[in-house]
Amino acid sequence: MRILGIESSCDDTAAAVVEDGRYILSNIVASQIDIHGRYGGVVPEVASRQHMLAIMPVIDRAMKEVGLIWQDIDGIAVTYGPGLAGSLLVGVNVAKAIALAKQLPIIGINHMEAHIYANWLISNPLRTQEEQELFPYLCLIVSGGHSDLVLMKGHGLFEKLGRTRDDAAGEAFDKAARILGLGYPGGPAVEKIARSGKPTYSLPRAWLKGSYDFSFSGLKTALWHLVEREQIGPSDYRVADVAASFQAAIVDVLVAKTSNTARELGVNRVLLSGGVSANTALRNGIVKSSPVDVLVPPIHLCTDNAAMVAACGYYHLLHGEISDYYLDILPSLNFTGTYG
Ligand code: KG4
Ligand code: ZN
Repeated sequence: MRILGIESSCDDTAAAVVEDGRYILSNIVASQIDIHGRYGGVVPEVASRQHMLAIMPVIDRAMKEVGLIWQDIDGIAVTYGPGLAGSLLVGVNVAKAIALAKQLPIIGINHMEAHIYANWLISNPLRTQEEQELFPYLCLIVSGGHSDLVLMKGHGLFEKLGRTRDDAAGEAFDKAARILGLGYPGGPAVEKIARSGKPTYSLPRAWLKGSYDFSFSGLKTALWHLVEREQIGPSDYRVADVAASFQAAIVDVLVAKTSNTARELGVNRVLLSGGVSANTALRNGIVKSSPVDVLVPPIHLCTDNAAMVAACGYYHLLHGEISDYYLDILPSLNFTGTYG
């Protein structure tokens, strides 16, 4: 079964074709980083306009690059939330128009659930059928908008355990980069400079004992005070140490809370996903401290892409979970089990 995935929830316009939820036939991402970088963050209005310009050429490439015609496609999976309203609208409307014209089923996909499915794509050990059935999994999904700890009991069977109470992990990285004058997007910039530094500054960790939730806004404020007090600018020799200290504070909390929860709940695996899971310190930290095997998507499948949307769509379609042509965007869509 081949699914065309479409993703436009934030600032990446993406389309991909995935076979049987696992094999990537094509995976195209048109990034808007250069455009938003000038403003230091995503400008929703600009993102929406860029999606309109890019979406059809991106879908065209995803199909033509591997010589596919519409008869080769069994369904269209599209992100309908959470995300920026103007951005989501472009993907959902294009998906609906194609589905109607080509008489294909349309499957509305939760962006956070899609991130988890990056772990099902072929370059990952989850590729064998037996390996896919080792539920329950504990999923840490860390992106620009969310930091969720989710128990996955099966396909479509999710229980949200924890979330961020304020800033998401990626948002904290982006704000730290702005405070340190390192540019946008912040995560890769902070990670790059942190590599040449040591975590010599003491920054706070919000453990929120007794809860699976996260909180990173206190850390961001502490960083801001440190930078102000010490007058540390982007070309200061101390920036690398500050970045390393900030990264260590975020990674420590994510790693410890995830590993402790995995131990407490007795899950079979930990699945990492979302843009922040591209961070090497986080990837290595979780692998080292988790009591069970950890799966992490390859770096290019951690950040937003449509292959993960198509993979997720495959399992929805398999369970007869399809949307109708009235599918609408849900910018604040929460994480709930939808089928199973
Ligand atoms: O999943 P994603 O591509 O988009 C959302 O759904 O939000 O995540 C983007 C976020 C950004 O905040 C970005 O700074 C962060 O992921 N990120 C990283 C790294 N690469 C991307 N954070 C830390 N280290 C990285 N290497
Ligand atoms: Zn994302």
